[in-house]
Amino acid sequence: MEKDQIFGACSKCEPDEISHVWDMVKVPLGDRSYEIMIGPGLLTELPEKLAGFIAGKKLFIVTDSNVEDLVGYDLLNMLRGQGVDVEMLSFPAGEDAKDMKTVVDLARQLVSLGADRNSMLLALGGGVTGDICGFLASIYMRGIPFIQVPTTLLAQVDSSVGGKTGVDLPEGKNLIGTFAQPVAVFADIGVLCTLPAGEIRNGLAEVVKYGMIVDENFFNFLEKKWWDIINLEPDTIVFLVKRSCEIKADVVSRDEKEGGLRRILNFGHTIGHAVEAVSGYSIPHGEAVAIGMVAVSRVSVSRGLMTEDQLGRLKSLLEQFRLPVEIPGEMDRDAIIKHIKRDKKVRDGRVHFVLTRGIGSTVIVDDVSMEELDL
Ligand SMILES: NC(=O)c1ccc[n+]([C@@H]2O[C@H](COP(=O)([O-])OP(=O)(O)OC[C@H]3O[C@@H](n4cnc5c(N)ncnc54)[C@H](O)[C@@H]3O)[C@@H](O)[C@H]2O)c1
Ligand SMILES: [Zn+2]
Repeated sequence: MEKDQIFGACSKCEPDEISHVWDMVKVPLGDRSYEIMIGPGLLTELPEKLAGFIAGKKLFIVTDSNVEDLVGYDLLNMLRGQGVDVEMLSFPAGEDAKDMKTVVDLARQLVSLGADRNSMLLALGGGVTGDICGFLASIYMRGIPFIQVPTTLLAQVDSSVGGKTGVDLPEGKNLIGTFAQPVAVFADIGVLCTLPAGEIRNGLAEVVKYGMIVDENFFNFLEKKWWDIINLEPDTIVFLVKRSCEIKADVVSRDEKEGGLRRILNFGHTIGHAVEAVSGYSIPHGEAVAIGMVAVSRVSVSRGLMTEDQLGRLKSLLEQFRLPVEIPGEMDRDAIIKHIKRDKKVRDGRVHFVLTRGIGSTVIVDDVSMEELDL
């Protein structure tokens, strides 16, 4: 099979034009440090790039039922064609499969396929796959290494960085999990071309968040390049993924287990989670976070931490990315407030909110009353 016949879903990511836009981010975590490679066409180079990690090991690709068809079989065949000892396991796509049953099913398949302590997992898919596969790797035979190959924008800019793994319980999302770092991450932006627009928007909400909490220049870049971004222009997307990974990696490496600094990543999420839950999860995570970022920024404006103009810029950028900025009129405000008060981030009975000072810097406060929130 010719290299350019596979993973060639997007004409903008032709292999001839790609090499100059590859980039890399280092995640500095001592002896668990790793690199995130970013670029279009990376999947085609995977056998070569993986060689150092999988030498002498049996590899198991873990993927979902959508990604299995989109790129899974191609990757499996390509790796086998290069002599790699590899198998592929899949589970039904979607958040509903992110539970202990899937983890146990996959673990049992690993046993029957002969996976041992010398095996390695490869998470091929979105955040659901990364969370399940990372969790499975961290507990299978007391822990085996894993590689992340994120295929959604959200997974490339957010969930594949930081080492949080886990699954949901009927009582709530991500209630069981571990901290486990991958040995490497390969983010092929070429695969984003098949992603539904709504999934791109989900990732973009987190990207806007990074600009708001840490980096005004990055926010300016997003404003300037919004058109190229929604059209998935490769150079622009490589920079966007790279800067997002750098920001998250920097926050995480200074606070790996969520003691303090890492909390700034929750900007927009306290209200966002509540909106998501009260909508019965009909409002996707990214849209809920967009609504949450605007709502909490209004508090910043009323406290004189942010100008009306800066709030207007946040709303315009989210709207350019086709993200909502208001809680739907018919939604029950009391139910949202009830949910906020139950949030995991409540400490000593007070709800902590991440506010921004303008664009690019944060302050965490615990004295925002529900009246001040003015939902
Ligand atoms: N671990 C963390 O730090 C962290 C951070 C944020 C979110 N998360 C978790 O991530 C999950 C959400 O991730 P997600 O939004 O990637 O969801 P997802 O993994 O369900 O992917 C979304 C959909 O896109 C499909 N898909 C994946 N790649 C594709 C491609 N290239 N082309 C077409 N379709 C493709 C998937 O099959 C799925 O149907 C949630 O469970 C959330 O809790 C984890
Ligand atoms: Zn989020």
